[in-house]
Amino acid sequence: MNTIWYETIDSTNTEALRRLDGIPSGTVLAARSQTAGRGQRGNTWFTEPGKNLTFSVVLKDLGLKASDSIRLNALTSVAVVSLLEHYGVQPVIKWPNDIYVSGRKICGMLIENTLDGAMLGASVVGIGININQREFPQLANATSLALCTGKDEALEEVLAVFLEIFEGMLSQLDSPELWERYASRLYRLGKTARYYDILREEEFEGVIQGVEPDGRLCILDAGGERRHYRFKEVSYIL
Ligand code: BTN
Repeated sequence: MNTIWYETIDSTNTEALRRLDGIPSGTVLAARSQTAGRGQRGNTWFTEPGKNLTFSVVLKDLGLKASDSIRLNALTSVAVVSLLEHYGVQPVIKWPNDIYVSGRKICGMLIENTLDGAMLGASVVGIGININQREFPQLANATSLALCTGKDEALEEVLAVFLEIFEGMLSQLDSPELWERYASRLYRLGKTARYYDILREEEFEGVIQGVEPDGRLCILDAGGERRHYRFKEVSYIL
C-alpha cells in the first residue's frame, strides 16, 4: 500500500473523498495533524498534533455488496485488535467498531462508501488510533498505546505494521471466520449489563450473545427474548 503523509490536512477522509477519482485502490492518506477530523454521528475527532495515527485507506471494487458493507467494519476492527495485540495490549471491540482497552477508547473508525449499483464502489476507511498522546483533557474516556504500554512508538512503524495486517486480512472479507474473530472480541460478550433500546424507548438488562452474519448485534434480554440491533438502534448504559 502506498502511503502519502500530510503535515496538516482538514481530514484524511475528506481529502480521500476529494481525490477519490485520481488515486488508485490501496492508497493510504496519513496526517500528522488534522484540523477538522471527523468522527461518527457528525462528531469531531480531536487529537494532539504529531502524537497519534490519523489515516484513511482508499479501497476500490472490493466485490462487496453494499448490504454487506458492515463486513469491512468488522475486518477493520479485527485488524486494529491484532495490531494492538502485536504491542502486547488486549483490546475489545465495542460494537460496531470502537476499540477499547480497560474501559477506555483507544481507536475509532469512520468508513465512508460510494455505491456502484448494489455493490460498493470505493471505500474510505478512516482510522484514528491514539498512540503517543498521554493526556486527554477534553475526553474523560480515552486512552493510548503509550498509556497502555508505557512506551512511545514511531507513528510510521505502527502504521506499517497495521497496513501489513490489514492488507493480509482483506482476502477474508467473505470468510465466516471473520465474524467468529470479531464476535470473540466483543466488549461485554456473555456478561449481564444494561442497554437502551432506541426504537422501543426502554432500558433493559441483557447479555450480548454475538453478531448475526449481517452484522446485527444479538442481545438476550432478561425475559428470554433475543433482540437484534442495527447501528444506532441500541446504546450501552455504562
Ligand atoms: C469515531 O467517532 O470514533 C470515528 C473517528 C474516526 C477518526 C478518523 S482519523 C482519520 C480519519 N479522518 C477523519 O476525519 N476521521 C477518521
